[in-house]
Amino acid sequence: MRKLNIIEYPNIDKGRIRLKSFCTYNYSYVPSDDLLLKLKNKKYFIKTHGCQANIRDEETLSGLLNSLNMERVETKEEADIAIINTCAVRENAEDKVLGEIGEFKNLKAKKKDLILCICGCMVGQPHIVNKLTDTYEHVDIIFGTHNIQDFVRLLDIYIKNPGTRLVDVSSKSGDIYEDMPSLRVNKFKAFVNISYGCDKFCTYCIVPYTRGKERSRDIKDILKECSELVKQGYQEITLLGQNVDSYGKDLNSNVDFAYLLEEVAKLGIPRLRFLTSYPSDFKDNVIDVMAKYPNIMKYLHLPVQSGSDSILKKMGRRYTKEQYLDLVKKIKEKIPEIAISTDIIVGFPNETYEEFLETVDLVKQVGYASAFTFIYSPRKGTPAARLKDDVSYETKVKRFKELVEVLEVDVNKYANSLIDKVIPVLVEGPSKKDPNILTGVSEANKIIHFVGDKSLIGKIVNVKITKNHVYSLVGEMINE
Ligand code: SAH
Ligand code: SF4
Ligand code: F3S
Repeated sequence: MRKLNIIEYPNIDKGRIRLKSFCTYNYSYVPSDDLLLKLKNKKYFIKTHGCQANIRDEETLSGLLNSLNMERVETKEEADIAIINTCAVRENAEDKVLGEIGEFKNLKAKKKDLILCICGCMVGQPHIVNKLTDTYEHVDIIFGTHNIQDFVRLLDIYIKNPGTRLVDVSSKSGDIYEDMPSLRVNKFKAFVNISYGCDKFCTYCIVPYTRGKERSRDIKDILKECSELVKQGYQEITLLGQNVDSYGKDLNSNVDFAYLLEEVAKLGIPRLRFLTSYPSDFKDNVIDVMAKYPNIMKYLHLPVQSGSDSILKKMGRRYTKEQYLDLVKKIKEKIPEIAISTDIIVGFPNETYEEFLETVDLVKQVGYASAFTFIYSPRKGTPAARLKDDVSYETKVKRFKELVEVLEVDVNKYANSLIDKVIPVLVEGPSKKDPNILTGVSEANKIIHFVGDKSLIGKIVNVKITKNHVYSLVGEMINE
């Protein structure tokens, strides 16, 4: 067995603790000359799983490695440093990652100097770190979501003691690091963190343990980042937080999410979005700001998780079906063209068919433009994972399929409503299937395919919708 240097080991109980305050630091680590010399012009590979929070972390990791004069590559075979940025939200996501880490074994046998790093939410869990250190000996560095700012320091330690594996995963409630270097994945769409972590502790969810306390960035830091993106010609900004609606609650000021949203909208970014909204924290003043600014997309991701009051209560979600429906009604009254999407979990422990049908009923009443549906996956250390469950997996799969069929009716209806309409589309790139076709996204995040020149990539163009393929649409570009 190779030697193991444990700087800090994850601890789920510590991850649950919420300290009152947090600190904001400016990133300032200076790499050693040895590290700079060793990594200069070397290559790195990053594979990211999970949500936008992980994508944003990937951009920071890329920025850090670029500052060491390294170059990004798209295949692991070319890499001198490989990073797998993991997600822990459901078991199937974790299984995929473990498979991927396993695949590195052969490569590492051939390329002994390759430094394999595992980071992200999965390694915030002690049982996963145990598994990696016990049975995946080819993994070199394990670091957590609270240790991104330590990455270069860890590389410095690693090259001084080559062969000694490193584990540095803090489970502290979390601080904020500003001024980290960053290399954006996309040249015209950007994610901007407005807050980190989550304090909601929905009973099924691992995120509050792996990402720590909810902490809001100072508004001036957010506005500075957004202004720079506008100056650089970015077309779209998505403001990110596990619960954007509670933005500012932890700051000693009267800044709230609606205020922040309006200030960002005023910077003149062509498209502004935000993710994710928590129904009972969503305030009316956000609806007013959305309605007032044409550059705020008339699209809202409003996860409901379940339509049953008893299940919502067991999930620790702090609203009822009626309150959710009232909120949707209020939003639709003020913004009739709004497209709403959601997340739903099917098969929470002991969910009855009647409770499931409450979700089906809610879905029919809302009429979602799109939806993400998941089968409940027990997450070790969360309260729901301790519940005994008398519903079989087969029953859950059956209900899942039933729900998807119901959802598809409205998704299809929404897509049909776009036929013959001319809508603005942000062109993302050539279509994966046909390089002569362009792919873009509508205001409501619908995928649109149309014939057009590659020079349009990164621009917003008008497209007349001609065909509906339910999850994507086809159109023709309209020249003005
Ligand atoms: N903060 C966001 C996103 C959290 S994770 C929110 O509150 O909506 C994204 C989605 O994954 C959640 O909305 C939920 O639907 C799903 N999810 C989270 N934990 C899960 C679990 N244990 N099993 C199945 N789905 C889960
Ligand atoms: Fe998880 Fe709930 Fe927080 Fe979303 S709000 S990240 S589902 S605990
Ligand atoms: Fe996954 Fe962590 Fe995001 S668990 S969904 S990567 S916050």
